[in-house]
Amino acid sequence: ARTAAVIPAAGRGVRLGPGAPKALRALGGTPMLVHAVRAMAASRAVSLVVVVAPPDGTTEVKSLLDAHALPERTDFLVVPGGAERQDSVRLGLEALPPEYDIVLVHDAARPLVPVDTVDAVIEAVRDGAPAVVPALPLADTVKEVEPAVAEGAPEPVVATPERARLRAVQTPQGFDRATLVRAHETVTDNVTDDASMVEQLGLTVMVVPGHEEAFKVTRPLDLVLAEAVLARRRL
Ligand code: CTP
Ligand code: MG
Repeated sequence: ARTAAVIPAAGRGVRLGPGAPKALRALGGTPMLVHAVRAMAASRAVSLVVVVAPPDGTTEVKSLLDAHALPERTDFLVVPGGAERQDSVRLGLEALPPEYDIVLVHDAARPLVPVDTVDAVIEAVRDGAPAVVPALPLADTVKEVEPAVAEGAPEPVVATPERARLRAVQTPQGFDRATLVRAHETVTDNVTDDASMVEQLGLTVMVVPGHEEAFKVTRPLDLVLAEAVLARRRL
């Protein structure tokens, strides 16, 4: 089985605040995207990384990746992204050469995922799961609400799912390639998670243990945490 990673990196990063597209923002002096590409290339199983870049930034991303050494066993491709994350993932999949039968989808915004997590996902797909997601138990209790129309207005609680049965999902998510392609052809709802499209095909998605350091850089405080994790690694 040959494994490729698709990295959607075409988002603006609105929640992070003004500045360059999120994937190009620096972390320890190196763009977040470069960390994310290296995190995928760190797995000996991954021989191709497809980066889905901001549509106006493909040239910049190409030269960025040319300038930052990857392991010799790893090739990369850069393709322009789309309006929604889902579109970007689909455009990445369409660029994938035929010989890859396992595909990882990994957020550029999770630059610090450890290689053991990547390998655990790949192994579970190799063992036959059509879709595999790394995930962690929740620290916070979660409530479902009836969302308020006006921002900041109180919202009535609808339900409190049992916390012990909930998991917070991370990336890379791993797929049998044909299954993920079929999911993209079939499912048209807007989703925030690739594996949920496979669920909608009626297939069982498997969860493996995620990692604290695979958190998503979403808001400014996440950048503070990411810098601290990187500094600790460099000790
Ligand atoms: N992404 C993408 N194409 C889009 C939107 C998102 O490739 N049209 C990517 C982002 O670049 C990111 C990943 O999907 O690596 C996860 O999305 P998210 O964390 O929501 O990033 P953004 O959409 O950039 O951030 P925000 O929602 O705050 O604008
Ligand atoms: Mg987003």
